[in-house]
Amino acid sequence: MASLATRLETLRQQALQELNTASDEPALARWRNTYLGRNGALAGHMRSFSQLAAEDRPAAGQAANALKRALETAFEDREGRIAALALDARFEAQRIDVTLPARRLHTGALHPTTQMLRRVVSIFRDLGFRETEGPEVELDWYNFEALNIPPDHPARDMWDTFYVNPPAVLLRTHTSPVQVRMMEKTQPPVRVVVPGRCYRYEAQDASHEWMFHQVEGLAVDEGLTMADLKGVLVAFAQRIFWPDTQCRFRCDYFPFVEPGMELAVQCPICRGSGCRVCKQSGWIELLGAGMVHPKVLRKVGYDPEKVSGFAFGMGLERIAMVANTIDDIRLFHGNDLRFLQQFA
Ligand code: PHE
Repeated sequence: MASLATRLETLRQQALQELNTASDEPALARWRNTYLGRNGALAGHMRSFSQLAAEDRPAAGQAANALKRALETAFEDREGRIAALALDARFEAQRIDVTLPARRLHTGALHPTTQMLRRVVSIFRDLGFRETEGPEVELDWYNFEALNIPPDHPARDMWDTFYVNPPAVLLRTHTSPVQVRMMEKTQPPVRVVVPGRCYRYEAQDASHEWMFHQVEGLAVDEGLTMADLKGVLVAFAQRIFWPDTQCRFRCDYFPFVEPGMELAVQCPICRGSGCRVCKQSGWIELLGAGMVHPKVLRKVGYDPEKVSGFAFGMGLERIAMVANTIDDIRLFHGNDLRFLQQFA
C-alpha cells in the first residue's frame, strides 16, 4: 500500500486539478462536498488514521490538516475568481451603449390660447393691472342689466346666449360682467385685467366658436380720460406685436361705455400692404373699448362726478390667430396634434 504521504499527495493533485475545471457555483459546491465534506475524500483518509500506530498519528494528522488548509485556500481562490468572472459576464451582458440615441420623451406643452393668455396678462401686469377672474356661469344682472344692456336688447336673444336657468342664469357672453363684480367689492382706484372663457350660441365657422376666451381690462380713478385708455392700448399693441405697430381708433357702440370705440392695428402679417389675414384692408380689428358709462358707475355705487374709468375687452383666440397667422378658430379646440405641436 502506498505511503500515507503519497496518498495525500495524490489526493491533493487530483483535487486541485478538478477544482480548476469547476466553472460555476454548483460545480464548486460539488467539489467541496467531494473533497472537504464530512463524508468526503479527506475525511475518509482521516478516519483511516485510527488504524495507524499511535506514534505515527500526530504526523499523519498534521499532514492531513495541512492538506485541508491548502485545499480550503485553493477553494476560496477559485470561488473568488468565479465570482469575478460572473460579475464580468454580467457587466458585459448589461453593457450600456451610451452612444445610442435616447428614446424621445413626449412632453406636453401649454395650449396656444394659454400661452397667449399669459403673454397678454403679463403685459398688462407690467402696466399696473392686477389679474383677477370671475364666474363663467353668470347672472343676467351682471352679464347684461348692470352693464346697461336693457331686457329687450338683441344680445339677450336665446340665439346669442346659452341659458343655464332662464332668464336669470346664463353662461357669460363676455368678460365684462367681472367689471361690475370688481367695482361692487372695491373702491377706486381700480386697475384689473380679467382673462376667462366666454360662451355664445353661435354657428361655428372659421371665425366663430361657441366657446372662446376674452381678456377684459378695467381702470377707474379720479380724472381718467380717453387719453389714458389710448395710451394703455397703444402700449399693449406695440408689445404684443411690433414696437412700431400703428393703431387706429374708431367709434363703436357698446351700451356700457360712452364714448365707445374699436381698436384696429396695422396688419402685423403684411404690415399694412394688404393680405389674406386682413382681407386686403391692411388693418385688423382687435378689441372693443371705451369710457365706462356713468350709468354703470352709478349702478355699483360710484359717483360719476368724482371718478371716471375706461374698459376694454379682446378675444384671445383672435389675437393668437393674428400673431400666428392661423386662419380658422376651430383649430384651437380641434385637438389636432399637428396643429398643437407647432406651439410646443
Ligand atoms: N364686452 C365687449 C364684447 O364682448 C367688449 C368690450 C369690453 C367693449 C369693454 C367695451 C369695453 O364685445
